[in-house]
Amino acid sequence: MESTNNNRGFSSNLGAILAATGGAIGLGNIWRFPYTVGENGGGAFILLYIAFVFLLGVPVMMSEIIIGRRSQKNVIGAFRTLAPQHKGWISMGVLSLVAALVIYSFYSVVAGWTLNYIVLSSSGQLIGKMPAEISQMFADFTHGSFWPLFYQFVFLCLTAGIIILGVQKGIEKYTKILMPILLVLMILMCIRSLTLDGARQGIDFLFKPDFSKITGNSILEALGQALFSLSIGMGALITYGSYIQKQDNLFTTSLWIAGADTFIAILSGVAIFPAVFAFGLSPASGPSLVYEVLPNVFNSMPGGTIFAVGFFVLLTIAALTSTISLLEVPVLWAVEELHWGRRKAALLISLAVFIIGAFCALSFGPLNHVTIFGLTIFGLCDHLTAIYMMPIGALLFTLFIGWYLPKADVYDELSNSGQLKARYFRVYYFIVRYIAPLALLNILIAGILS
Ligand code: PHE
Repeated sequence: MESTNNNRGFSSNLGAILAATGGAIGLGNIWRFPYTVGENGGGAFILLYIAFVFLLGVPVMMSEIIIGRRSQKNVIGAFRTLAPQHKGWISMGVLSLVAALVIYSFYSVVAGWTLNYIVLSSSGQLIGKMPAEISQMFADFTHGSFWPLFYQFVFLCLTAGIIILGVQKGIEKYTKILMPILLVLMILMCIRSLTLDGARQGIDFLFKPDFSKITGNSILEALGQALFSLSIGMGALITYGSYIQKQDNLFTTSLWIAGADTFIAILSGVAIFPAVFAFGLSPASGPSLVYEVLPNVFNSMPGGTIFAVGFFVLLTIAALTSTISLLEVPVLWAVEELHWGRRKAALLISLAVFIIGAFCALSFGPLNHVTIFGLTIFGLCDHLTAIYMMPIGALLFTLFIGWYLPKADVYDELSNSGQLKARYFRVYYFIVRYIAPLALLNILIAGILS
């Protein structure tokens, strides 16, 4: 064992990669990616998405991780340490903290739904139902008040339980167990879907690009989806970055995270679209795709119940490793800045999130008449973070690395004080200084105007 670093952070590079990949892979990949692809016409959108992930996502991700690893601090402490003379940067940390809490509040609602669907599918309640009945069940459940809150609460408790166990014994240990299960389940789902009669059409939809389908709006959607899916712009990567050991290679670590995240997103397309097409259902059915359309697919396939349970367990695992990364942001802040114990921090913050999150959950039912700027409370939280907070966060992180932190420090961090060659550095620095800020400013403005 080496220095104090080992006690504070992840125990190995693999642990760091799995934890950060677990944070990245979530409902964004398995729930949001397929329906966004469905709404934006398929293959061409995927190519655009992949280009954004690697040309912009990876450099921005590296910048955020640098802030964490160089400072070895939580989101607020990081800016205080790296910009001691310019306190204004601390507001970046505050923004990250708020974004993490808001995302966690609405994310935990949909995460709770996954638990309900494990119960529904394993108890056979989805079997033999007509599509209209399945839609009705989804509506009845989400419009209610007790069960959505109950499952959201259970999800918050599960997450808090793992966070309380600590960075190595909680986050690292559980992501190491859960991620391989997720991969195996995903591969099984793909095999099932690809071996259905009529799977071909779904594959064509995914992989035959039709560029006429790309509009200005799909470009925005692709970039927004890349930020959300890679968890960029809200401090999760600063927090996990602060746990990455000094000898780990930040470039390859980021490539692994982005590569695995993209791979799982595409696999979930492969698991979903061939099956949706094989049963003549619509790929463009929006956010209810996995909850309303897929149960019909499972209903019509041999072995449907087992695959339904497998799928919703998969979705739950994906969501859980992401909520862990969301909760760790404010917890590390409370531990380091307020000197709270981990347990107290995890419990009190989860309680606060449950209070805000309850409004998000109820905004599908009893509170659905409450609208702000034409959005429900859930919609507002989603919109605020996706359109404003994450792009602003990502923009400011790149400006911090590209223009504020001395270039030599950035190089020092990427080359591990000269031990690695970092031949890509000039390209990286150019992207972070010019291209990424301009692109992010663009989506920010376009998003605000849309
Ligand atoms: N990246 C996660 C997903 O794809 C969502 C997320 C965003 C998690 C921001 C943490 C922080 O589901």
